[in-house]
Amino acid sequence: MTSSSDCADVLIVGCGAAGLSLALRLADVARVVALAKGPLHEGSTYYAQGGVSAVLDAEDSLESHVEDTLIAGAGLCHADAVRLTVEHGPAAIRWLSERGVPFTMEPTTEGGNDYHLHREGGHSHRRIVHAADATGRAIQTTLEQRAREHPNIALHDHYSVVDLIVSRKLGLKGNRCLGAYVLNRDSGRVEVIAARFVVLATGGASRVYLYSSNPDGSTGDGIAMAWRAGCRVANMEFMQFHPTCLYHPQAKSFLISEAVRGEGGVLLLPDGSRFMQNFDPRQELAPRDIVARAIDHEMKRLGAECLYLDISHKPADFIRSHFPNIDAKCREYGFDMTEEPLPVVPAAHYTCGGVLSDLAGRSDVEGLYAIGEVAFTGLHGANRMASNSLLECLVFAAAASADIRAQLAGAPSPPALPEWDESRVTDSDEEVVVAHNWQELRRFMWDYVGIVRTDKRLQRAQHRAEMLLREIDEYYGNFRIDNDLIELRNLALVADLIIRSASERKESRGLHYTLDYPTANDASPPRDTILVPDNFAGKEWRPQWGKPA
Ligand code: FAD
Ligand code: SIN
Repeated sequence: MTSSSDCADVLIVGCGAAGLSLALRLADVARVVALAKGPLHEGSTYYAQGGVSAVLDAEDSLESHVEDTLIAGAGLCHADAVRLTVEHGPAAIRWLSERGVPFTMEPTTEGGNDYHLHREGGHSHRRIVHAADATGRAIQTTLEQRAREHPNIALHDHYSVVDLIVSRKLGLKGNRCLGAYVLNRDSGRVEVIAARFVVLATGGASRVYLYSSNPDGSTGDGIAMAWRAGCRVANMEFMQFHPTCLYHPQAKSFLISEAVRGEGGVLLLPDGSRFMQNFDPRQELAPRDIVARAIDHEMKRLGAECLYLDISHKPADFIRSHFPNIDAKCREYGFDMTEEPLPVVPAAHYTCGGVLSDLAGRSDVEGLYAIGEVAFTGLHGANRMASNSLLECLVFAAAASADIRAQLAGAPSPPALPEWDESRVTDSDEEVVVAHNWQELRRFMWDYVGIVRTDKRLQRAQHRAEMLLREIDEYYGNFRIDNDLIELRNLALVADLIIRSASERKESRGLHYTLDYPTANDASPPRDTILVPDNFAGKEWRPQWGKPA
């Protein structure tokens, strides 16, 4: 048993933009423990390029940012979540600047300095605040530094959460989250961390696909853990594919930011002709679902391995100063973007669905919050607009912080929690099974549950997912766990949730496109796909879609 006397006030699982900004917002009133399953910086945040969207230009307006987000979301955005996020955008940017994030600035006509703003797909104005083309790295390293300096924040890397501990599983009343079982990857031991509040800030699940722009750890752990703990999960069919990742065998789907198109980059077929005008009047700056689908369509039509992104018509100095990191990376792989078009392909990029959470980040389980990419807040609808994700991380971290602060004084401390039971497992003699299952899962998700779906493909994927889930469950029950097994078990569950959600949606909308129902069903009001776990305890949900109030 672990005693409750040494419990944390708040356990934050995840040290990206969402987790670290929450830690910093709480640390003056709470003892915070924040965990990362690998190196502290290693999450999607670090790799973000384009920036953070916020209304900061006098010619822009909150209404316009709201409207653009709703349009990109194809009828499924929740108006309250959109409004909350957009309205808190400027304050979120100021908060980051005050913490020292070195955003790119430009001189104003009045002789001062202001944020330089990029433009990206779906945005009708320039409103992307950025630190050159490595915005995520600037945010991650600055917040990490601030968190390390704070005496009330304990940061632990290489700590991988296995599962949440909830009162119902212990036979206690209600269903409150009391802490978590955590694999200390250095010692190989599973430890118990008790906490009065637990926050999932574990990022997305895009590594469920063979090709993804995300780092290896985007395996949907938070979604799977929340589901097992009794939380509903929503809109998992809306997996976003970024249109332009570098096509090169060693580049691991390196992202070429949408800001390149925002600054004039155009998409080309192998014969050098443009094609986006055939798909959308906004051409290269249409929302991402449209651009990715157009590329996929043209690649299949022509049997092409890739298409091309060309910004070489701009002056070389302009390209190098706006995109220094992308330029350097492309050179590593033998491409000079100042001189030639870059070969590009789409890759899985962002999880629009996730753990159902309210405007304060609260999930269905008492004391358990979900913020950042792991959460489904209703902001993104059927398709996330570029650079709205980091903004969501920051705004919902602030909202969750306010909610937790208000409850801290009256929140119960957890009872003594049982230790992890390893009495029935042994060391695996077949570790290769895990690697094989990883490959199989990602391959069939890419082939059957990708940019274009059909009922038949989804059924095929469902059969394979069910078989894998059974195999992995058996393996998990018999052998000592490690990080690979934790991730595989979570990914297989998340794959199942994606396939089930996609199978429920009998229409094409936003990122979910199926040849069997190629148009949106506008006969009835659009609805979210909400999956309910067997152990769900029941809670009201706010059904609000469409236009802002
Ligand atoms: P992450 O930053 O992914 O962090 C997840 C954290 O959870 C990590 O610390 C990880 O170790 C931890 N974790 C996960 N599972 C466990 C576990 N089981 N136990 C312990 N810890 C765990 N969005 C934008 O708005 N603008 C952009 O310009 C932009 N560019 C992008 C470029 C790339 C290449 C990618 C991949 C994404 C981009 N996005 C962008 C999306 C955005 O970066 C992410 O949605 C956002 O950073 C997610 O932040 P997060 O804090 O929710 O999670
Ligand atoms: C990009 O820079 O293209 C990524 C932006 C995003 O995912 O929001």
